[in-house]
Amino acid sequence: MNAVPETRHSGHAGHAGDHVLVAEQLARYYTVKRGMFAHGTVKALNGVSFALERGKTLAVVGESGCGKSTLARQLTMIETPSAGRLLIDGEDVAGADREKIAALRRRVQMVFQNPFASLNPRKTVEQTLGEPLAINTPLSATERADRIAQMMRTVGLRPEHAKRYPHMFSGGQRQRVAIARAMILDPQIVVADEPVSALDVSIQAQILNLFMDLQDEFKTSYVFISHNLSVVEHIADDVMVMYFGGVAELGDKKRIFSKPRHPYTRALMSATPSIFEADRTIKIKLQGEMPSPLNPPSGCTFHLRCPYAIDRCRSEVPKLREVDGRQVSCHRAEEVGDVDA
Ligand SMILES: Nc1ncnc2c1ncn2[C@@H]1O[C@H](COP(=O)(O)OP(=O)(O)OP(=O)(O)O)[C@@H](O)[C@H]1O
Ligand code: SF4
Ligand SMILES: [Mg+2]
Repeated sequence: MNAVPETRHSGHAGHAGDHVLVAEQLARYYTVKRGMFAHGTVKALNGVSFALERGKTLAVVGESGCGKSTLARQLTMIETPSAGRLLIDGEDVAGADREKIAALRRRVQMVFQNPFASLNPRKTVEQTLGEPLAINTPLSATERADRIAQMMRTVGLRPEHAKRYPHMFSGGQRQRVAIARAMILDPQIVVADEPVSALDVSIQAQILNLFMDLQDEFKTSYVFISHNLSVVEHIADDVMVMYFGGVAELGDKKRIFSKPRHPYTRALMSATPSIFEADRTIKIKLQGEMPSPLNPPSGCTFHLRCPYAIDRCRSEVPKLREVDGRQVSCHRAEEVGDVDA
């Protein structure tokens, strides 16, 4: 995977053959009330670029409020971006008419954190899985029933439970139903927003393995959002670390995990002992809180919390650039990991 260079503005799809999903400077702003009369703008997603390879998993990490779910809503076309471009299988979403958008939506499915909230409590599994088939395919009722039974088996559910309602399943089984619903139309891309964080730890590994098995079988590409680095280490090919609506670091998982080059990535990893062994690596403790999105800091958005910050960081926004085989937005990326702050 490569980050998409900012300079590429040509109309054609570029690496459409390899890249099933491309975001170019994708942004989403929200207008929020500030007191009685004033309004402010929250730049929840502020220019994010990446390219997802077919059949691969891009994991998106970052602390609460950094814009992960906002990104998910743009990728799944639940919302319209404020700026930037989104290409799905080489098709520019912005230029597509309604019919085309509907077709693209079928190719990108979403799995949410809480299957209780995302599944309709009044629908049986059969109805939940059958409706997309009835609307989008020419299958007969018998063929649909076969397809539903097959999909239930694929996700580890028993087909004889097709007439059950969501509340009749355990949390893990409910998430299997939600995954089956996402997979039933054989999408190219699944965007999963913290799909295991609401589950018992003992169940999490099973669901992660299910995601990986499905990817092997159907070559689905995943954007997998998680705040848990152990989960990310398990499932990702590539990793995108987000901070304050932007990309801190992006690239191959092994490279980033073995030597993070952004102080924020390093801080996240320092907080996960299983990932960073004690003595060999320079650890960073995250100080303070994420700044208010209504009052963004000047320069590097991380400078108030960064032990590496220098004067330049307070005034100059670091550009995302290639350092040590990955993309990093830090003025001091070359030094991070090699010298103490
Ligand atoms: N509809 C909205 N209106 C106003 N602000 C919003 C809206 N949606 C999100 N935000 C703000 O945008 C920022 C990013 O939110 P988002 O939900 O994308 O973060 P997140 O990374 O998914 O966090 P979490 O890990 O808690 O799920 C936050 O500051 C949030 O308050
Ligand atoms: S640009 Fe400066 S403040 Fe930002 S992460 Fe790098 S060193 Fe820290
Ligand atoms: Mg979220």
